[in-house]
Amino acid sequence: MQFLPVASGKGGVGKSVLAANLGILLARAGKRVVLADLDFGGSNLHLILGLRGITAGIGTFLSDPDVAFDSIVLPTDYPNLHFIPGDNELPGIANLTSGQKRKLMSRLRRIDADYVILDLAAGTSFNVTDFLLLSNHGLIVTTPTPTALVNAYLCIKNAVFRILTTTIRRGSPADDAYRAITKESDTLQRIYFPDLVARIEAHDPETVKRFHDAASRFRPRIVMNMIDDPKQVDKAHRLRTSCEQYLGLEIEHFGVLYRDSLQDTALDARVPIVRYKPQSVLAQAIARIADRVIERSDDDAMAWIETDESFLTAASDAESDYETRSDYVRELLHTGALSEGDIQETVKSQQIEIGHLRRENNLLKAKLRTAIQQGFTP
Ligand SMILES: Nc1ncnc2c1ncn2[C@@H]1O[C@H](COP(=O)(O)OP(=O)(O)OP(=O)(O)O)[C@@H](O)[C@H]1O
Ligand SMILES: [Mg+2]
Repeated sequence: MQFLPVASGKGGVGKSVLAANLGILLARAGKRVVLADLDFGGSNLHLILGLRGITAGIGTFLSDPDVAFDSIVLPTDYPNLHFIPGDNELPGIANLTSGQKRKLMSRLRRIDADYVILDLAAGTSFNVTDFLLLSNHGLIVTTPTPTALVNAYLCIKNAVFRILTTTIRRGSPADDAYRAITKESDTLQRIYFPDLVARIEAHDPETVKRFHDAASRFRPRIVMNMIDDPKQVDKAHRLRTSCEQYLGLEIEHFGVLYRDSLQDTALDARVPIVRYKPQSVLAQAIARIADRVIERSDDDAMAWIETDESFLTAASDAESDYETRSDYVRELLHTGALSEGDIQETVKSQQIEIGHLRRENNLLKAKLRTAIQQGFTP
């Protein structure tokens, strides 16, 4: 079972829309999926999925010992897709106690499925961070606005901080050093992270080595939502640079999604966009992300993709989606020179071909990497 946490720093950037539609697509691809609404206090995933009459969820499970976990894992209209509601009927668990968190995590870990998608609350609280860290490849959703990007960065930074603090064992030299540093600064967040790590390392290189090992496995996947223009893909570069320079962390660009008014129409109709308009550019772009999730979990050679490559792919996806959306296409449609079906057909077959070439390219790269590791000089 793989966890797919969906997080963001800023609220309202599209986490729940992505989580719900991704769940449906992965289930449609034959994967057994459980979609969990972990946005306590702001649960709305059931609305996006179009589910009604939900009476119990994680809130009831955590507060009523008579409620069995299995009873809150609900079947949906979609084969292979189950849903765990949040706390809509029982508000007040917005702040989980650590005991509640442990209980919930241990139940989530035991779910028998291929993917457990976690729709998280916005922000950078401990609870969000701990659920995000259930996977080394959680999705971080952002939009191209400066606030969303800064908050995405803070979300990642908090996760790296959390990795550091969980590596430090109580009573170790690192623990002493960490406490001393915390004492002299009023807020830990203001300390330049590489300095913090370097100072701990001076007292306890072993702990810091363990931290680096854990942190190097953490590689969040950025999804840039609500872009209007292909150039906005570049906004993710600043996020990338900050993560590299200040946290020593590589991120991956996992996909771009255009802003599309169809999404709100779909939401009003209580039908997820991938069902409402499966051929829309937005639904197709979410499908591209779903394909990527599957592709990257099924094939070891593909599990690792260069950061550069992921950014180039995002840029080319943004260009091709833009063309599909562009006015000139609408004009051709209008004059009758092309039918909508023609365009969809063309785009679909191009996307399949691009996907094919990309996979081939990645496989060749993986082979080359292995060969280089074994001493081959290109
Ligand atoms: N690509 C898009 N184009 C247009 N509207 C979108 C897009 N993605 C999301 N939205 C809309 O933005 C709003 C917020 O989306 P959503 O609820 O998924 O965000 P969220 O990050 O889960 O928010 P919260 O932090 O409150 O949980 C919704 O009205 C949704 O329909
Ligand atoms: Mg949400």
